[in-house]
Amino acid sequence: MAKPKKRYVCQACGGVSHRWQGQCPDCAEWNTLAEDAPATVFSMKHDLSSGGRAVEFVELDKPGALPQRQPTGLAEFDRALGGGLVPGSAILLGGDPGIGKSTLLLQAAARIAREGRGVVYVSGEEASGQVRMRAARLGLSDAPVKLAAATGVRDILTSLGSMDAPGLLVIDSIQTMHSDTIEGAPGTVSQVRGCAFELIRYAKENGVALVLVGHVTKDGSIAGPRVLEHMVDVVMSFEGERSHQYRILRALKNRFGAVDEIGVFAMAGEGLEEVDNPSMLFLSGRDEPMAGSAVFPAIEGTRPVLVEIQALIVRLQSGATPRRAVVGWDNGRLAMLLAVLESRCGLNFSAAEVYLNVAGGYRLSDPAADLAVAAALVSAMADKPLPPRSVWLGEVSLAGEIRPVAHGGLRLREAAKLGFDRGFGPVDVKGAGSALAYDGLGQLANLVDRIIGNS
Ligand code: TYD
Ligand code: MG
Repeated sequence: MAKPKKRYVCQACGGVSHRWQGQCPDCAEWNTLAEDAPATVFSMKHDLSSGGRAVEFVELDKPGALPQRQPTGLAEFDRALGGGLVPGSAILLGGDPGIGKSTLLLQAAARIAREGRGVVYVSGEEASGQVRMRAARLGLSDAPVKLAAATGVRDILTSLGSMDAPGLLVIDSIQTMHSDTIEGAPGTVSQVRGCAFELIRYAKENGVALVLVGHVTKDGSIAGPRVLEHMVDVVMSFEGERSHQYRILRALKNRFGAVDEIGVFAMAGEGLEEVDNPSMLFLSGRDEPMAGSAVFPAIEGTRPVLVEIQALIVRLQSGATPRRAVVGWDNGRLAMLLAVLESRCGLNFSAAEVYLNVAGGYRLSDPAADLAVAAALVSAMADKPLPPRSVWLGEVSLAGEIRPVAHGGLRLREAAKLGFDRGFGPVDVKGAGSALAYDGLGQLANLVDRIIGNS
């Protein structure tokens, strides 16, 4: 038999290489490749067509109880989940350290436990005393949550096996877990994958909703857990800027529901508060219009969210390389918009530093925000405020055209309800109605003429 080949697994993304390299060819992180135990290769000569156990087949419409969703008691959490926790499902909750994952799960765990459903919360990061202190601060000490500080998956599963299966099992975090059947330190890809596999198997067999907390690396992927994304049913991310109050819970993958609804929370002294109307949160609330600020009407699932985009342009005297810094939007997309503004509209950003910020710690990924970003940039460049109470929407193509976006009419109507009275965007927006004064702009150059020109 051939000698098993060595393989090296990236500890950040799970990519596999057959030789050691300084940089991962998949995610471009440095020094993340580590040798992994070689996969056992079974000979393909075995006949697999006999000797197995019979598999039971069922009809899709087989009568009988389907698993019922269990509400968490936090409406915003349920909204992002698509209605609640599904028994026997596994959820991966990712987010930056300190963003509030443990707080969110402790609050949900307490609500579920108070309703009489069993809840087990295993913390691998904090001692029980620390979690209890937090529960006391949040006023949750009376909730019958079973709490443990443990990191051994064998210990956890053995203990769970000797009691009634809980409705919810929280593992905080999967990177601190280890299994003695697997080589490697906790947090390595093989440990994370192996521990998750065992825990998920327990959850599926016992109809337990399992939440695995996963840390996020600096490039935004959940560390190691990228290898978990296909193993779990739901992948959620908890986002926000730590210096801001607001937190957004978003499903990135959901086998049981849509992924377009978000949950919005505010971090306060007594834990996370639910925000059921987030439409005006991400506006600065300033009265006079200011140069470099544009409002984008976002839609999150069924709810409108108005978001302020702020741009600052600083001209450089020396020939130093100008900085481009972005908070809450995509770097590559900013570079693209600057290139389009330069080549199609004749603006010159080459000797200027460009800073772009989305207010309130919100993260924008909707391409419909292009025009609002462009408007903020041009307004900052010209040092002229945009028309007061105006919203901007549209995708910008490389040719400098302003392209239609999804739900254009709905976005404008919602903005009008919230007191905005002018809209700018692509030429055709269906269903805008007469809610507000609307200007269709075909080309980005029209926007530049509007703002810099004499109109
Ligand atoms: P935590 O849930 O520990 O974050 P994670 O598990 O994602 O690492 O949240 C930690 C932060 O939340 C901490 O910096 C303090 C803040 N916080 C509050 O502002 N109010 C509170 O009531 C609690 C419990 C935490
Ligand atoms: Mg935590």
